[in-house]
This record gives sequence, C-alpha cells and structure tokens, in this order.
Amino acid sequence: MSSIIKTECLGKDYTLPKGVLRVFEGIDFELEGGELVAVMGISGVGKTTLLNLLGILDKPTEGKIFIDGEEILSKSEREKAEIRNRKIGFVFQFYHLLPEFTTLENVSFPLLIRGVEKKEAQRKAYEILSEVSLEEKAPLRPSYLSGGEQQRVAIARALVNEPKLLLADEPTGNLDWESGKKILELIRDLHQKKGLSSVIVTHNEKIAQFCRKVYLMENRKMKLLPHL
Ligand SMILES: Nc1ncnc2c1ncn2[C@@H]1O[C@H](COP(=O)(O)OP(=O)(O)OP(=O)(O)O)[C@@H](O)[C@H]1O
Ligand SMILES: [Mg+2]
Repeated sequence: MSSIIKTECLGKDYTLPKGVLRVFEGIDFELEGGELVAVMGISGVGKTTLLNLLGILDKPTEGKIFIDGEEILSKSEREKAEIRNRKIGFVFQFYHLLPEFTTLENVSFPLLIRGVEKKEAQRKAYEILSEVSLEEKAPLRPSYLSGGEQQRVAIARALVNEPKLLLADEPTGNLDWESGKKILELIRDLHQKKGLSSVIVTHNEKIAQFCRKVYLMENRKMKLLPHL
C-alpha cells in the first residue's frame, strides 16, 4: 500500500534565548493510506511539534517530508498552503476557532477558501455539525460554547473538506468518554467509507486502543508500541 505521509530522518530544534533545544531527531515515520494511528508521550516531549511538521505548519531543522509521495519542503509557500487546504484537516490542541465568526462560518471557511459556493458550503457545514451533534449551535460564536463543544466545532472544521489526512492534537481531550468515543467512531467511519488516514495525539490509553498502531515519543525518538 502507498503511504499518505512519510518522513525521513526528521529532526527539530527550537532556538531559545540561551542555546538550542533539540526536541527530536532521526524520526522515520510512515502512515499508509487508510491507517489510523495514535501518538502518545508525556507533556513537553514534542507531540504538537511533530504534528505541526506533518501538517506543513512549521519547518523541520533536518529531514524530509513526503505527502502522497511528493517532497514537500522544497515547495513554495503557496503550493504548501494549497496542499494543506486540499489534503489535510488539522485539529489544534487549543482549537483556534475564529472568535468573530459563528460556528457555522468557522466550519464553512475551509470550503469557501477552496472556492465552494456559499450556500453549498453552509449546507455541508450544517451536515458535519449535525454529525457532531452541534447543529443548534450553528448561529453562535465560539465564546458561547463550552470547551468540549468548541473542540467538536474544531473537529467538524477539520473534516468538512473531506481531507485525505487528519492530524488531530488531543481531539477528545476536553470530552467525556461517551462524547469522545462518538467522535472517534465518526473518524473511524470516515476511514472505512472515504479512505481517510489519521494521526491522533492523545494522552488517553482508551483512545489509543481505538487506533491500529500506537507510537510513543520518548527521549527525542518515536517508537511503535506492541499492541496495548
Ligand atoms: N515555539 C517554541 N519555541 C521554543 N520552544 C518550544 C516551542 N514550542 C514548543 N517548545 C518546546 O518544545 C518541547 C515540545 O513541545 P510540544 O508542544 O511539542 O510538546 P507536547 O508533547 O505537545 O506537550 P503537551 O502534551 O503538553 O501538549 C517543549 O519542551 C516546549 O517547551
Ligand atoms: Mg501538545
């Protein structure tokens, strides 16, 4: 099977006021089409940093990234933005919803950016909002929503474009087990019906067990865990 995302010897440093922080190095990761994998690891180990690199939101210090077989880092900013919009759905750890806009508008944006007509974008946004049980919140701004509701809006926004690749940073971190499970079932359904591939960062072992493979980040490396 071909890989949707692949890294070669990926390494990331952050430059700090005093010296350099090496977050990880030598990461060879491969996600095959249709796979659902979890990434675990203690706070501060580099999970968000890795996801940001996989989602082309930040640049590695060394190594290569291939998406659908295409080398990404040599592309222009414009090409990278297009690949992001077309292929990747991203759920941020802290949601990053736009506060000035309603739930419906937040979820519609990825479609509008892609050139979908407004009415059709809103219809699709409603449809995915109802999948996460939030259609009633469509006219409200994020500040009127609870943390878990905002998290579900962020998930709806990531999925509305029917991405090939979902990168989700603690997508159920603020949800009770039942609501979190519903989201995971929605994601798993999209794997089966639409061939979605996903990387999910989580601290929760129960959630990790939902995934086919579980990776652990530790001591600047990432390793595949034996089945939990
Ligand atoms: N922009 C940045 N500049 C400098 N250092 C950073 C930056 N972002 C993260 N770091 C550092 O890099 C390390 C990894 O951070 P990261 O956010 O990837 O961790 P994480 O595994 O996602 O943690 P958590 O589970 O708490 O979300 C941490 O030591 C953090 O302090
Ligand atoms: Mg994080």
